[in-house]
Amino acid sequence: MIPEAVISDIKHAIDIVQVVSETVQIKKTGSNFAGLCPFHSEKTPSFTVSPIKQIYYCFGCGAGGSVFNFVMKRDGLTFPEAVRTLGGRCGIEVPERSMTPEEKESVGKREKIFLANRLASDFFSGILKGETGVHALAYLRNRGISQETIDHFGLGYAPDSWDSVSRCLSSHRVPVEIAVGSGLLIAKETGRFYDRFRHRIVFPIVDTAMQVSGFGGRVMDDALPKYLNSPETPVYHKARSLYGLHVAREGIRQSKTAFVVEGYFDVLALFQSGITQVAATLGTALTRDHVRLLSRCGAERFILVFDSDEAGIRAALRSVPVFQKEYMTAKVLVLPKGHDPDSFVRESGADAFLAMADKAMDLLEFLMDASIRRHGLSVEGRLKILGDMKEPFLALEDRVARSLYIRVLAEKVGIDEGAVHEKIHQRSGPGPLPRGDIPQPPVRQLPVGNSLELQIVSNLVRYAGIHPYCREVRVTEYFEEPGFKEIGSLALAYDGPPEAMTDWLLMNLREEGQRELVARLAIDEFPVIHQRCVALVDQYVRNKNRLGDDLTKRIRDAEIRGDHELWLVLMKEKQAFIADLKKRQDHAKKVKHKSGVSGGKTI
Ligand code: UTP
Ligand code: MN
Repeated sequence: MIPEAVISDIKHAIDIVQVVSETVQIKKTGSNFAGLCPFHSEKTPSFTVSPIKQIYYCFGCGAGGSVFNFVMKRDGLTFPEAVRTLGGRCGIEVPERSMTPEEKESVGKREKIFLANRLASDFFSGILKGETGVHALAYLRNRGISQETIDHFGLGYAPDSWDSVSRCLSSHRVPVEIAVGSGLLIAKETGRFYDRFRHRIVFPIVDTAMQVSGFGGRVMDDALPKYLNSPETPVYHKARSLYGLHVAREGIRQSKTAFVVEGYFDVLALFQSGITQVAATLGTALTRDHVRLLSRCGAERFILVFDSDEAGIRAALRSVPVFQKEYMTAKVLVLPKGHDPDSFVRESGADAFLAMADKAMDLLEFLMDASIRRHGLSVEGRLKILGDMKEPFLALEDRVARSLYIRVLAEKVGIDEGAVHEKIHQRSGPGPLPRGDIPQPPVRQLPVGNSLELQIVSNLVRYAGIHPYCREVRVTEYFEEPGFKEIGSLALAYDGPPEAMTDWLLMNLREEGQRELVARLAIDEFPVIHQRCVALVDQYVRNKNRLGDDLTKRIRDAEIRGDHELWLVLMKEKQAFIADLKKRQDHAKKVKHKSGVSGGKTI
């Protein structure tokens, strides 16, 4: 374990507001800050940061915790990794510690793969600069790529050899299983290895933490496959990676817009023309994770750029469900026939590209128009159009939005709105529910349980002043909701300074859901009033004790029915209950006198 003193030093040296504002734009609201949540997509800010308590909580998705938890979630790190990252920023060295073997292995493996990738990336870019890279450099130059762009994206060249990467990695003592695990080497059946990327221009794929997670490689002639990408590895998942994002980040933040293109060269060419807010999917359809990544960089508008109508329609159809609630923020830009972003911007320039982007069509409207163009407005055509639009419309979560789009479609095809509505919502026989009707994973909610228990836990988490009283009446022992019981008893076990309680709880709760609950309760600025809190606890305990009455009734029933065995069991239960009750009541009285129930005391 990392020593607690080190963790606490780091925590004191780091400001959560600062760390969060690097990825999220937050504005001061009262004593907290608020912004759009980086962990789910939203339009109104429910992501809250408390500079006083140094915690965050999102009222939309329930994510919450300390600055470490934030970095863990944002960068996909383990707790020790997050501590190290933040420690590195404030110059506090984190001593090596002993990890569990599995932890060691998985953290170690990821780190080693990142290292291997970095070594390979440096190797490739070195080769491109040297004699072996002359042809590759000429190829890039021929495609109009400047030296500045090459440097910015760290482009390289993998030589025409079976073992140069392999030799480079082994000279740096990278273990073979890491080299293979990174996808840079491929294992042969004979037990030997060879380089995956050979005689290709190499594009390092860099994540938002500036780590090289994978590579793309392009041939320089007509050989196939034209592009080769890293396989899925512990650090590279194509459904969660975008090419060029590390470079695009700043431009996205400034313009609040992200262009999503399909090719490596599209990113490079647009960057070179001055349009930097561009990232490319890596030979895969756009996913929700991609959109999330872009939103996290500050994108509020997405422009999906496609080479052709057909490709655009196919991809647009697939991305409707990806955008779900943010469908309105997604636009489709189809380039003139025969062009991709690379060729278009080189031929017509950035202004022409941006002008087209300005006129880009709303995702669903694009699909409607495409369908109308395809089928025409004959009777038959109109029916087909309705058929085409059924799925994308049903993919819209928001029913109001759906009906607004239905109105647009009704107008476009000249059919009565009600009839369009009916057609879209018509069930086509048994089978899966239309996508829009599948209940979405609900926003994480507080465990419903007992609301009094929740209120008490909320007080316990926010106000240490109530702890002595609660300890005495042993209120958490009555708790039925296990989650509340755990958090409540942990809070009661705390005996440090009140202002450090939240930190301590966050540090000691293993389960993410529980940390999130604590963050949620702790970020509530509503003051706890001592007297009211005592009354609440009393009411709860009294309610619990009333259960004793129920026991009495059951004993009487057993007596009437002559069930002696049950009667005996229940009587014993009652005796225990009374003894316990008396003990609690005595405690309660004693404590009440002692604390004098100070009036109106808040945190
Ligand atoms: P394209 O075939 O449209 O090529 O592939 P491009 O990006 O315009 O490339 P240039 O201009 O001919 O060099 C688009 C993207 O699809 C993926 C790559 O990510 C590529 O950038 N792709 C393509 C592959 O993964 N493998 C392939 O064999 C081809
Ligand atoms: Mn191209």
